[in-house]
Amino acid sequence: MWTFRLFPEAASTGAREVDLLYFALIAISAFFMVVVFGPLIFFAIKYRRRSKADRTNPPHGSFALEMTWTAIPLFISFGLFTWGAMAYFDIERAPKNALRIDVVGKQWMWKLQHAEGKREIDELHVPVGQTVLLTMTSQDVIHSFYVPAFRVKQDVLPGRYTTEWFKPTRTGEYHLFCAEFCGTEHSGMIGRVVVMEPNAYEQWLTTGDVALPSVAAGQRLFTQLGCSGCHGDSSKIPAPRLEGIFGKPVPLNGGATTIADEKYIRDSILMPGAQIAAGYENLMPTFKDRITEEELMQVITYIRSLSETNTPAR
Ligand code: CUA
Repeated sequence: MWTFRLFPEAASTGAREVDLLYFALIAISAFFMVVVFGPLIFFAIKYRRRSKADRTNPPHGSFALEMTWTAIPLFISFGLFTWGAMAYFDIERAPKNALRIDVVGKQWMWKLQHAEGKREIDELHVPVGQTVLLTMTSQDVIHSFYVPAFRVKQDVLPGRYTTEWFKPTRTGEYHLFCAEFCGTEHSGMIGRVVVMEPNAYEQWLTTGDVALPSVAAGQRLFTQLGCSGCHGDSSKIPAPRLEGIFGKPVPLNGGATTIADEKYIRDSILMPGAQIAAGYENLMPTFKDRITEEELMQVITYIRSLSETNTPAR
């Protein structure tokens, strides 16, 4: 049987867009190859040495011709740039109402956490037809989360969060690779993405080992680590309240403003003195070395949930 494939399967909504752009680039390149090499070969033969071709009256340049072959490629290039930029923004902008999954890369495995509590290693189960948003970080070196069938690849960096999203269009199993050289066993840092029917996925979520859902796990950590002592209801310490802050601007001491996103909350837990909310003192201890990457993501999920329930939908 003929099994050679030039392209991986296209199993996400974004795959079509990426492929279309890619094929357009190939088609345009092929067209101009013919336009350039066709005449080149023709004239090389026609005016070869000792041919009897007419060599009198050579042309002396043509303004119209120069303008034409400047303007046409200019418009084609701008068109491709616009198309590529729009596809890029689509890929980079995380959609709302997505199924959120947390990803931690480490030498040499992928650790995945579903919001409902299910955890996986080197395997990701997702429902078909649902937008999935991965929030990713690394606990050691740079990795890269690559699913060829979805045409998505994003570096996973220590000390910050990157996101990647896709919407699977058909069920099946697809390759998952690490696409950044990350040490001796980089090539073994592979896995699979399993796209399931939505009811099968719902059932899968509740079978086997199911840990606490991320929000509840984050809330528990919030209490255990003592965060609630200062940021909670009964606090006598002047610490900012965290309800409703997620995604909102935060005025800082010194006059600057930042957005309370995943990164800001992460940095505030690990380096509390770096960006202090306006009107507060630098009292908070650092939680560096006291909290793992997975726990950080759970605490952030909990803090985000405080904004989702306490503020009307935007
Ligand atoms: Cu992780 Cu390569």
